[in-house]
Amino acid sequence: MNILAIETSCDETSVAVVADGCKLLSLVVNSQIDIHKAFGGVVPEIAARSHIEVMLPVVRQALEEAFYGNPKSEILNTKQTQNSNDQNTTHDQRITNHNLWSQIDAIAVTQGPGLLGSLLIGVLTAKTLAWTLNKPLIPVHHHLGHIYANWILEGLEYSAPYPAQVPEFPVLALIVSGGHTQLLYGTDHNTWKVIGRTQDDAAGEAFDKVAKILGFPYPGGLNVAKAAEHGDPLCYALPTPKVAEKYNFSFSGLKTAVLRAVQKECGKDHTFPSFQLAALLNEAQKADFAASFQKTAVDYLVSKTKLAFEEFQPKTVIIGGGVAASQPLREALSTALPVEIQYAPQILCTDNAAMIAARAYFQSKNEDPVDPCHLEVKPSWPL
Ligand code: KG4
Ligand code: ZN
Repeated sequence: MNILAIETSCDETSVAVVADGCKLLSLVVNSQIDIHKAFGGVVPEIAARSHIEVMLPVVRQALEEAFYGNPKSEILNTKQTQNSNDQNTTHDQRITNHNLWSQIDAIAVTQGPGLLGSLLIGVLTAKTLAWTLNKPLIPVHHHLGHIYANWILEGLEYSAPYPAQVPEFPVLALIVSGGHTQLLYGTDHNTWKVIGRTQDDAAGEAFDKVAKILGFPYPGGLNVAKAAEHGDPLCYALPTPKVAEKYNFSFSGLKTAVLRAVQKECGKDHTFPSFQLAALLNEAQKADFAASFQKTAVDYLVSKTKLAFEEFQPKTVIIGGGVAASQPLREALSTALPVEIQYAPQILCTDNAAMIAARAYFQSKNEDPVDPCHLEVKPSWPL
């Protein structure tokens, strides 16, 4: 079963084709990082407009990349025949695309949560494709998508290595991204329970805010991670956040603790504008702050995951979301847990449509497709 999926929950326009929920046939991710860089973060209206501009070319590219180049594909031959016989490109493309679409069994899309305007573009595109091509339409929860990135085992060489096998249930999943931080426990594909979530900032959001304090450009998380490689993680003692609920998280206090420590280091009080602090730090100090923050955040995430592991005794532990790309987090989890963790390729950790297609495949086994005329976006959609 080939599913073409569309993901536009934030600032990435992504389309992918995945076979049987596990084989990646194509993945196109059009990032808006360069557009939002100037603003230091994602501007929702600009994100939505950018999705509109690139949506159809991205769909077309993902569709073509999925099937061209496969020597067994009849579509390739059809295209070659058309090219040699017909100089009318529009006509040629129409026929070729028609043949390509016949290889697609269903359309999947991120229905939420995410930015309203961004979600609207993806959902409208998916609804239109499903309706005009008469294909089943499968709406997917973005967080479940992050989990199912771990079900993709083969496909495009450039994103390898893939995990050797699919996660075995019961599964404990740590989802850590720019918008969400959750611990989930799944007993089968239809039963996922949230056992912990952040009470304020998400883990990735904390990385991004600390990046701003330290003067690193957007996207912050990756730049904090890079700077941390040269820093001393024990240089600044930062407090581990405390929350009442056993498996819940809090990151806003940790971000404030970094701010206060930077102010102290610079000899300034809380009235000093935070955006001017970075200019008073040298590169070594920035690296030490980045490393100290990263260690505290990683240790915190790992300690909660370990606690949940001990209580729930899952067969498998997986991580997903942009922060799951963090090498120190991967290493610390591997050391702390008595089970081997198989990690998804980094490109499948940050927002992408392949994870949406993978989740849609397993969803399609138990849920009926929805009516394309009545699908609405869900910007706030608790699991
Ligand atoms: O899942 P994602 O692509 O988008 C959301 O759904 O939010 O996650 C993006 C987040 C950003 O906050 C980014 O700073 C963070 O993932 N991130 C990282 C790393 N790479 C991306 N955080 C820590 N270490 C990294 N290597
Ligand atoms: Zn995400």
